[in-house]
Amino acid sequence: MPDNTTTKNTTKFYGRRKGKKLHATRQTAYDEVLPTIRIDLPEKNTSLNPSSLFNTDVKEIWMEIGFGDGGNLAHMAQNNPDIGMIGCEPFINGVATLCRDISAHNITNIRVYPDDARQLMSFLPTASLARIYLLNSDPWPKTRHHKRRFIQKDTLDEIHRLLQPEGLLRMSTDHPGLAAWEMEKTWAHPGFTWIANHADDWRKRPAEMVETRYQKKQMAGMAPVFMTFQRNG
Ligand SMILES: C[S@@+](CC[C@H](N)C(=O)[O-])C[C@H]1O[C@@H](n2cnc3c(N)ncnc32)[C@H](O)[C@@H]1O
Repeated sequence: MPDNTTTKNTTKFYGRRKGKKLHATRQTAYDEVLPTIRIDLPEKNTSLNPSSLFNTDVKEIWMEIGFGDGGNLAHMAQNNPDIGMIGCEPFINGVATLCRDISAHNITNIRVYPDDARQLMSFLPTASLARIYLLNSDPWPKTRHHKRRFIQKDTLDEIHRLLQPEGLLRMSTDHPGLAAWEMEKTWAHPGFTWIANHADDWRKRPAEMVETRYQKKQMAGMAPVFMTFQRNG
């Protein structure tokens, strides 16, 4: 299997890959844990069965795109041991924090692609995921940078392809411009239905999730909104 770093980028990633030097505990966790949970891309023109990544049978596969420090992914994994969790995150400091937590809590049902989620997604089979989480995606507030936002027509088509019928796309943000963008684009996509019957459905965090690092910061100042779209059956 080729190393991910040699895989040709078809899409450009504009975020940070590295922050401050890692402290010893996180560096050790990164060095020791990541090789055991890391997803390597398969050969070109093949696909990767996500269930095969886990050591035990998993009921469903959930994916979190841009997990940051992995707090929500670790929380969901611990509370749902029969679900296989895939996390994608190019920022190695965040990946190292998740590795530390996986080691500290002996979490066995997380696999990580430490790079741009779009690369991995293109190798996953149709209807292979039950849920996709995109929490506090980078807002890219300047109009000329809107094309860098994760949700675009082509990524929505890909999310739609990967979700099983009635599978869920959960998004959250405290950025008003991004909330409107994600809502409008996903609403306009014919393959999704917005699941919200009451105001609490978009004001309250879904029960399986935990407050993320970015939600705690509330940088954009607005209370977070939670959008759940269901892939049409
Ligand atoms: C604003 S942070 C939010 C992190 C986390 N979800 C939270 O709520 O604390 C957005 C994260 O998405 C990651 N990201 C951006 N584009 C990505 C992509 N194409 N694939 C995977 N992760 C991505 C960034 O590296 C960053 O860690």
